[in-house]
Amino acid sequence: MHIQYLGHSALAVQDRGVQYLFDPFITGNPMAAVKPEELQADYIIVTHGHDDHIGDTVSIAKRTGAMVISTFEVANHIAAQGVQKTHGMSIGGKYRFPFGYVRCTLAFHGGGIPGSFPAGFLFNNGETSFYHAGDTGLFSDLALLAKLERIDVACLPIGGNFTMDPDDAVLAVEMLKPKYVIPVHYNTFPVIEADAQGFKKKVEARTGSKVVVLEPGKAFEC
Ligand code: NI
Ligand code: MN
Repeated sequence: MHIQYLGHSALAVQDRGVQYLFDPFITGNPMAAVKPEELQADYIIVTHGHDDHIGDTVSIAKRTGAMVISTFEVANHIAAQGVQKTHGMSIGGKYRFPFGYVRCTLAFHGGGIPGSFPAGFLFNNGETSFYHAGDTGLFSDLALLAKLERIDVACLPIGGNFTMDPDDAVLAVEMLKPKYVIPVHYNTFPVIEADAQGFKKKVEARTGSKVVVLEPGKAFEC
C-alpha cells in the first residue's frame, strides 16, 4: 500500500493497482502538493460534505470515471452534479467492493450538506486495513472500532478547533491501537495549527503505534 499525503485531509492511496483518493481538497488548499488535473482515481472517498473534503471530487470523478463513495446524502449531492458512479453508505454499514470491504464509521462533527452527517471510512483489502477518521472530535467508541478491526493505518485529524487536537488524538490512538498513524487536518489554516512532531513524541512514548508525519507530497509504503 502506497500512501501519499496531498495536504489537509487529502490522501492518494495506491493498492494492488487500484487508485483511491480521500477527501481531495486541492483547489484552494494552500498546502496542496499536486494539481487536481494530475490526480488519477478509481475510487474517491468523501468523509463529509464540507468544502475542504468534497474539494475537487466532482471534476476528478468526471475526468477519471471514478466511483465516489460517501455518506448517502453527500453521494446524492455529488450525483446531482453529473457524477455517474456514486455509492452512498450510512454509519455502521459495511459493503463489499471488488477490492475488499468498506465500513462507514462514526464521526462527531458537522455533515456539511443539509440532512447529512459526518463519517469516517475504513478499508480492508483482506490483508491491510486503512482508516480515515474524517473530521471528528474524540469519542470513546473508537475503542469499539478497534474491537471490530485490526487497524494498520489510521489517519487522524490533529488540528483542533474543528476536530481533535494532538492531546485528544493521543487518546484516540490508545483506543484504536493502529500500527501506523498519519496525522492530518492541521497547519492548512492558522486556526488549525498543530505540532505534529510533538504529537509523534507523545504517541510513541505512550503507545506501541508509530506516527508517520508526512509533508504534503510525500508518501509512505506499508
Ligand atoms: Ni469538516
Ligand atoms: Mn475539515
